[in-house]
Amino acid sequence: MAKKTAKKAKAKAAASKVKVKAKLVKKPALKVVAKQKSNGNGLPKVSTKGWGKDGKALEGVKVLDFTHVQSGPTCTQLLAWFGADVIKVERPGQGDITRGQLVDVPGADSLYFTMLNHNKRSITLDSKSKEGMRVLERLVKTCDVLVENFAPGALDRMGLTWERIHGWNPRMIVASIKGFGPGTYEECKVYENIAQCAGGSASTTGFLDGIPLVTGAQIGDSGTGLHLALGIVCALMQRNRTGRGQRVLAAMQDGVLNLCRVKLRDQQRLKAGPLREYTQFGQDIPFGEATPRAGNDSGGGQPGVILKCKGWETDPNAYIYFITQAPVWEKICDVIGEPEWKTHPDYAKPPARLPRLKQIFERIEQWTMTKTKFEVMDICNPLDIPVGPILSMKEISEDPSLRKTGTVVEVDHPTRGKYLSVGNPIKLSDSITEVKRSPLLGEHTDEILSKVLKFTSREIAEIKASGATGEAPKAQAAE
Ligand code: COA
Repeated sequence: MAKKTAKKAKAKAAASKVKVKAKLVKKPALKVVAKQKSNGNGLPKVSTKGWGKDGKALEGVKVLDFTHVQSGPTCTQLLAWFGADVIKVERPGQGDITRGQLVDVPGADSLYFTMLNHNKRSITLDSKSKEGMRVLERLVKTCDVLVENFAPGALDRMGLTWERIHGWNPRMIVASIKGFGPGTYEECKVYENIAQCAGGSASTTGFLDGIPLVTGAQIGDSGTGLHLALGIVCALMQRNRTGRGQRVLAAMQDGVLNLCRVKLRDQQRLKAGPLREYTQFGQDIPFGEATPRAGNDSGGGQPGVILKCKGWETDPNAYIYFITQAPVWEKICDVIGEPEWKTHPDYAKPPARLPRLKQIFERIEQWTMTKTKFEVMDICNPLDIPVGPILSMKEISEDPSLRKTGTVVEVDHPTRGKYLSVGNPIKLSDSITEVKRSPLLGEHTDEILSKVLKFTSREIAEIKASGATGEAPKAQAAE
């Protein structure tokens, strides 16, 4: 009996051990599941470091920056601001052509260059030499992204075809800006204004009785750089899942057209009749077959124009953009001293106002001309009337709010001294941008060869002696 009891006790103990074991096994499993759920898709634990203290958004991403002029450098500068290590490869001696364009301080890199190449490192390399290609191969194998905006076919002519790059590094993302996508014009070289013209911006900018105009905003270059940066970040995200790189193409014509989307909207609306919110409708000027130039008319359904303010006779920027937004119409009538318009059948409702927009804005302008643009702002903003001052670049460069947010920053440079630049316009709360000066030509050649690409000192000596980085021929010439 005692034996039986002992056996039972043993069995019970064993069973409870099993249970305990089962519990032990089960519990952690449950814990893991719970952990994964709370962290979402196997993401790491939520950081407990302070905001902006846990690295940068693109930290760890290495970019082989083969860009020049404006469009490509805009893209790689953004990537650098978000924390990517951007290695700019430049032709020995000359570098990016913009270093020497529109020079204001003799002997120093131009503002054109410095304002588009912050936070990057520069290596000089003759990509068409044997040793240069040896270094490029190592760069391709080391980097995550190659960005280029050479003329069509130039990368292939260098020997860097997609097949070769993909063979060396299947994870590499190869991102390109070209003027046009595949089609009639794909072989063309393209600059900003060509893209503005071919992308629909110029035909829809300017006044009805004038020639097409290009805009001051660099929508072809910087706009396409932005598009490409988004494509690269998406390709990096996809690579996390697939493990492989891909090609990313942003054509300047496509980028401009994307920004002119509302004009293609209007092109199609023309089939249904005149575009009633365009000033020309109220002037009884017939519409043609294509979206017309609309002067300063508002692009949306709320009529708006640029009006003179006090001082316009001498100050070219004493103007304000004024929108007669329907919900605040009655407040506008009171402000300009036309309270009877609030109930008058010709003015009370938006459709009645559309054929009279020219006359209405002339009346509003009589009022704005009695105030400075900032006084108009002070009066209209508390009433929620949408108005915007025409700010000059001088006013923008001195604006304290833009300085405070880092959108306008002062940067120090060893050869040109202090200058103003536009900082990162995109603000991330956990990846704070610090704007660092642009590199001097080839400033980081040694550092990149040894520390990033891990060439031995003997190999570096060979590369340099070949003239691939530019120093050797220069030294010989000096002898
Ligand atoms: N070492 C050796 N050669 C180099 C080099 C390096 N590090 N970097 C560039 N090159 C070579 C290229 O291989 C190319 O040679 P190739 O024509 O013999 O093949 C040559 O320099 C010139 O390149 P390219 O891009 O044709 O420059 P460009 O000054 O004649 O044209 C653009 C400039 C902008 C018109 C043209 O690059 C272009 O259309 N780019 C795409 C659209 C674009 O981005 N436009 C906006 C620019 S803001």
